Amino acid sequence: MAGSTITAWGTALPPHVVTNADLEGHLDTTDSWILSRTGIRTRHVGGTTRGLAVEAARRAMDQAAIDPRQVDLLIVSTNTPDLAVPAVAALVQHELGLSCGVFDLTSGCSSFVYALVVADGLVAIGLRRVLIIASDTVSRIVDPEDRSTAVLFGDAAAASVLESSPGARAVLGWDFGADGGSARILYQSHGEYLRMNGQEVYRRAVRVAIESAMAALENSKIGADEIALFVPHQGNLRIIETVAGRLGFSAGQTMSVIDHTGNTSSASIPFALAEAASTGRLRDGDLVLLAGFGAGMTWASAVVRWGRELPPERQPRRKAPRRQRTSSSGAVG
Ligand code: UT7
Repeated sequence: MAGSTITAWGTALPPHVVTNADLEGHLDTTDSWILSRTGIRTRHVGGTTRGLAVEAARRAMDQAAIDPRQVDLLIVSTNTPDLAVPAVAALVQHELGLSCGVFDLTSGCSSFVYALVVADGLVAIGLRRVLIIASDTVSRIVDPEDRSTAVLFGDAAAASVLESSPGARAVLGWDFGADGGSARILYQSHGEYLRMNGQEVYRRAVRVAIESAMAALENSKIGADEIALFVPHQGNLRIIETVAGRLGFSAGQTMSVIDHTGNTSSASIPFALAEAASTGRLRDGDLVLLAGFGAGMTWASAVVRWGRELPPERQPRRKAPRRQRTSSSGAVG
């Protein structure tokens, strides 16, 4: 079976920033409540799921130095498609000029981890290159008057290129799970706003994230002490800290971007991963533990080996990193 490696990534955030002080203006809330209960200071809001996906993907493809014909499959993980039909992936395929097959993957905020593991399996049986884009614009479905959700969510996209690479192995082990019996704690009916029982989501999220992360470690035969960076879903800083603490990870070993992004649904894990890579917190060969949870409820965890050299003909082009306040991108090499 062919091996795989994540060779490039790119992110996109809408330019409009909403601060906690902005929310104080029209909601019965305070900066100190939001910061102490969620860890969020600012979130980016605006754009479309398709538009952010295209922007992030262009950055990732540019860094990977691949042209549209070289992408064998596009997976868009999203919980907030712009249209009910067709898939976001079809719209993105057209805009990027890809000629490959496409599908959307919707499994709550765990969706990116599901997509990565699925892509890794498809590379193992023959695909050369899969573009995975996580893109969500939850702000479009949040009730602006509901202080329990309006303060929490932001919009973002993060794209990754997963390539076939002999001898490498991106996903070392994984765990998927779901409990459809909990669907009503976080849901959106057609044409209505998102509804969330925050306390229930919180309580269950802590439990399933810990159990799933431990299962992924066990399945990959990797000890927690071998993990260089823990990258959990960015749902609430208190959840992140509790889960990381129970798994034995220090703050320095735990990636958190929630203070400046808010909860960006399925984009949160790949966004945090991209920011870790772009800011030098990940080195080639590092083992990373991803742990997602969200609506469904679903959960998904994976142990990933970061960055292996590609064959010489596929070495990514080296570029000076673009310094953009609202995005980051980079390539392994
Ligand atoms: O990605 C999908 C997964 N989703 C999540 O990870 C979200 C998980 N849940 C949470 O992050 C938290 O439950 C919330 C941030 C949503 C709420 O925090 P909490 O600490 O669980 O607050 P709570 O619901 O227990 O409410 C405590 C108090 C209540 O007031 P009383 O009844 O004590 O008077 C709420 O009405 O805080 C009140 N409250 C607020 N006050 C100011 C709730 N939201 C707000 C707010 N500002 N925005």
